[in-house]
Amino acid sequence: MGGYDGYNGYNGYDGYDGYAVRAEGLEKRYGEKRALDGFDLTVREGTVHGLLGPNGAGKTTAVRILSTLVRLDGGRATVAGLDVARRPREVRARIGLTGQYAAVDEVLTGRQNLEMFGRLFHLGGRRAKLRATELLERFDLADAADKGVGDYSGGMRRRLDLAASMILAPAVLFLDEPTTGLDPRSRGEVWESVRALVADGTTVLLTTQYLEEADKLASHITVIDQGRAIADDTPDGLKNLVGGDRIEVVVAERSDIPRVVKAVARVSDGEPEADEGESRVHAPVVDRVAALTEVARTLQDEGVQVEDIGLRRPSLDDVFLRLTGHRTDVSEAKEAAV
Ligand SMILES: Nc1ncnc2c1ncn2[C@@H]1O[C@H](COP(=O)(O)OP(=O)(O)OP(=O)(O)O)[C@@H](O)[C@H]1O
Ligand SMILES: [Mg+2]
Repeated sequence: MGGYDGYNGYNGYDGYDGYAVRAEGLEKRYGEKRALDGFDLTVREGTVHGLLGPNGAGKTTAVRILSTLVRLDGGRATVAGLDVARRPREVRARIGLTGQYAAVDEVLTGRQNLEMFGRLFHLGGRRAKLRATELLERFDLADAADKGVGDYSGGMRRRLDLAASMILAPAVLFLDEPTTGLDPRSRGEVWESVRALVADGTTVLLTTQYLEEADKLASHITVIDQGRAIADDTPDGLKNLVGGDRIEVVVAERSDIPRVVKAVARVSDGEPEADEGESRVHAPVVDRVAALTEVARTLQDEGVQVEDIGLRRPSLDDVFLRLTGHRTDVSEAKEAAV
């Protein structure tokens, strides 16, 4: 494990420095597979930090190492200033974890679930009850508190999961893809809950495959690919890298492309690009809706037959293309399947 020999002497912590998480050169191998391959991460206290990457990038592995569930093969990590390899018990006392798959019991009610978690954490019956009531309020589940979790929507279930991981008000909370598979409304509800947590002083490390989610919640984003951090930036920094929102127009007749380029150029914030093969013109825009309206009107006035026109927000895939020169394997697989 290199030459690191521990104790830096700050309050008995292993080098506490205002970072809730600090990971350097993390390695994790599963047989031949390098799930983490020199992964670095720093998360400032009191923030939401996004860990953004496609399927298989190593997000869950990183979270599992930082939450002491699996052992690292190399490198070094501290959480709340404590070395995860040497002081796992103390780390565990300061963290919460919501896994990729919900851990709550379907048969019990929301309240019973939280009371059970409270007792698991040795709160004692009375305090467990109090804490359950508090958390049900906080996560907007009071009305559904005494319903069986089997009847909860996906969003309610994730919120209950978040509540369960907050029983002891952890200093650092790991959320592994908290909204994957949720509909847009439930996703919004979970986002609200996460914001409330951070307002209370919890630091959140959130993994996600959605640039939009990281953008909405995180003040900083680390992009992970094949077990390595390939970018570390603010959401705006990442979006600038891919050029922000884009307008896209697809025309029926390829011969109309020059006219579309001209119309788009008037509203765009950079050179329009034309994909002749797909009869498609696209360009970055700042004032999204105004740009869309103006281009649609101009093309209609000119009698250009438009097949499709729309606005596209940059996605993880766009970020990947810029950073790595290739798309995520997932999107390639999806395209191959079409
Ligand atoms: N227990 C394990 N045994 C063998 N290989 C594993 C194990 N856990 C993870 N891997 C492999 O390590 C790599 C990283 O996996 P990980 O689950 O960390 O990715 P992820 O970013 O969380 O992906 P997803 O978005 O699908 O959850 C993958 O190639 C995965 O197949
Ligand atoms: Mg995962």
